[in-house]
Amino acid sequence: MSDPLRVAVVGLGVGFSHLAAYRELPELYELAAVCDPLEPKLDLARGILGVPRSFTSFDDLLACDDIDVVNVCTPPDLHLPMVTALLERDLHVVCEKPLAGSLAEVDALAACERESRARLMPIFQYRFGRGIARLRRLLEAGLAGRPYVASVETWWRRGADYYAVPWRGRFDSELGGICVSHAIHAHDLLQSLLGPIERVYARVATRVNEIETEDCAAVTLEFGSGALATLTATLGSVRESSRLRIAFEHFSAESSQSPYQPGSEPWTLEPATAEAAARIDAALDDFEPGPELYAGQFAAFHAALARGDAPPVTVADARAAIELVTAIYHSSRTGEAVALPLGPDHPLYAGWIPERGAEG
Ligand SMILES: NC(=O)c1ccc[n+]([C@@H]2O[C@H](COP(=O)([O-])OP(=O)(O)OC[C@H]3O[C@@H](n4cnc5c(N)ncnc54)[C@H](O)[C@@H]3O)[C@@H](O)[C@H]2O)c1
Repeated sequence: MSDPLRVAVVGLGVGFSHLAAYRELPELYELAAVCDPLEPKLDLARGILGVPRSFTSFDDLLACDDIDVVNVCTPPDLHLPMVTALLERDLHVVCEKPLAGSLAEVDALAACERESRARLMPIFQYRFGRGIARLRRLLEAGLAGRPYVASVETWWRRGADYYAVPWRGRFDSELGGICVSHAIHAHDLLQSLLGPIERVYARVATRVNEIETEDCAAVTLEFGSGALATLTATLGSVRESSRLRIAFEHFSAESSQSPYQPGSEPWTLEPATAEAAARIDAALDDFEPGPELYAGQFAAFHAALARGDAPPVTVADARAAIELVTAIYHSSRTGEAVALPLGPDHPLYAGWIPERGAEG
């Protein structure tokens, strides 16, 4: 493994944020190339960010033999074929959410990663925030006690301008609505904190925009630990916010309400007793958080590759997120609670998109 790693970014929408994050880590990564069919975006990447090479064709990028990591930031329906082709070339891959559009596809990618000499890291950059890192440290130290109940809100606002981009709002290209594209971040945060989900009951609806996919959702969850949770999500909130609240035995935790950085500070921790407060203070005494968001996830990826460890976010993590999405759609369509885990025998294992042969 060369150091710094030479990185290419495919798809220059949010891909520009990936490039900016890599530029914060010059000892770890070198910007090597960009790929997008739109020349003006390539001009920007070359001119402003100094990326040396650009490609309008993904196949030309694929043919390069001097790139270590490729970030896939294209519309969601392109993730599966691109990630598969990159892993088959033994190139490390970082892929935007959603990793894929079904449990079958995620399982196929997991198999492809096992066959490859390279690693695949799905993006969940909200996990890399100082507030949530503080909470995670307390959980790892065993100071939280039992989790009782949680609530997660993804209250965002999207309108006609957002859905003017042709791939958005359609199952075949965006792969889903608010549960797949937007709330997936906060839902992943909760799963990363509370562990496996055992039961899901959900209703989804399209209430805000004239689109095919859902833009509102209400969900209840039962975790293996016994904790209960509610998730609400809308793209019609006047004020945008994201929020997680979790009541543990020994303290309550509440995130910031920053819509796109709920893992960052300020998080509020309310201890149940003076003794719990003292234990929390002691555990956080030498806490030194690392970089946040994309830069935090990319720095952790570099460290994992250097050690030969699994990436800081794994395909299994993406599978858990896609499993929850699958259960949400199934519950909403059938009116029934869905028991997890879901395997190949589930009716929506091959996908929730009706055109792909899933149930209507
Ligand atoms: N993690 C986050 O917070 C976050 C935020 C926004 C978007 N996303 C995800 O990033 C992905 C892209 O979303 P976006 O908002 O940047 O979309 P976008 O439409 O703004 O940008 C996508 C880019 O991909 C390019 N593209 C299309 N086909 C291509 C191909 N074959 N080869 C190379 N480039 C191609 C397009 O020209 C466009 O420039 C989606 O999966 C989305 O869900 C994640």
